[in-house]
Amino acid sequence: MTERPVLVFDSGIGGLSVLREARVIMPERRFVYVADDAGFPYGAWEESKLCARIVRLFAGLIAEHDPELVIIACNTASTVVMADLRAAYPATPFVGTVPAIKPAAERTSSGLVSVLATPGTVKRQYTRDLIRDYATLVHVRLVGSENLAALAETYMRRGFVDEEAVRAEIAPCFVELDGRRTDIVVLACTHYPFLANRMRKTAPWPVDWIDPAEAIARRALSILETLPQGTAFPEGPDVAVFTSGNPDQQLKRLMHGFGLQAR
Ligand code: DGL
Repeated sequence: MTERPVLVFDSGIGGLSVLREARVIMPERRFVYVADDAGFPYGAWEESKLCARIVRLFAGLIAEHDPELVIIACNTASTVVMADLRAAYPATPFVGTVPAIKPAAERTSSGLVSVLATPGTVKRQYTRDLIRDYATLVHVRLVGSENLAALAETYMRRGFVDEEAVRAEIAPCFVELDGRRTDIVVLACTHYPFLANRMRKTAPWPVDWIDPAEAIARRALSILETLPQGTAFPEGPDVAVFTSGNPDQQLKRLMHGFGLQAR
């Protein structure tokens, strides 16, 4: 029997888009959600400092929660920290989240794909390598958004968002070239699926929005199934941990709505 939770980590509320998919396919599991809200937003962090911060945080998180598996539900972190985390904590399986460039390149009909992400993710060598390895025949536009993650945080806490601001952030994703148009936008930040309806509403034309959350949850499950364990899972509340140690009431309410006890 395993009593060890699955730990889902992000800089803020974005990882909840992965948690909700994980819960659908592993309803019997217990989850610990960790938001590094003291470090939010990750988009502007210098790579080596961000890496060092996250590796350091996990010393405490692993000691306290003893997770059976960790999902880094954040592109900005995953594109830079996975190797360091695996080296520092070899006994813990880590699943990362990286821009869904390969599936987008396979699915596009027009050959024009955009990747919407934080400024950190679009700068990463990891992201450039994905394009080189899987999308050489496709025109990929990388769009670094300064504000969308924060807009998603506001939307989730307050229930409203400035649609004109969303329109402005997504506008560069829409490209017209030789009579062809962008037909796929990769949501390469886990915060963005929460704004998907607003994006659809403010987009200049319809596109496919790729949200990798379900694929990440499936990957986590496939690894968990290879680990030795029993079949019964204990009852116990899922919890949300904030590195600030100080979530406000709106955040606590939001977590409660996701079935998480905020700490
Ligand atoms: N949710 C994070 C991601 O997937 C980043 C949000 C941020 O910290 O700016 O990239």
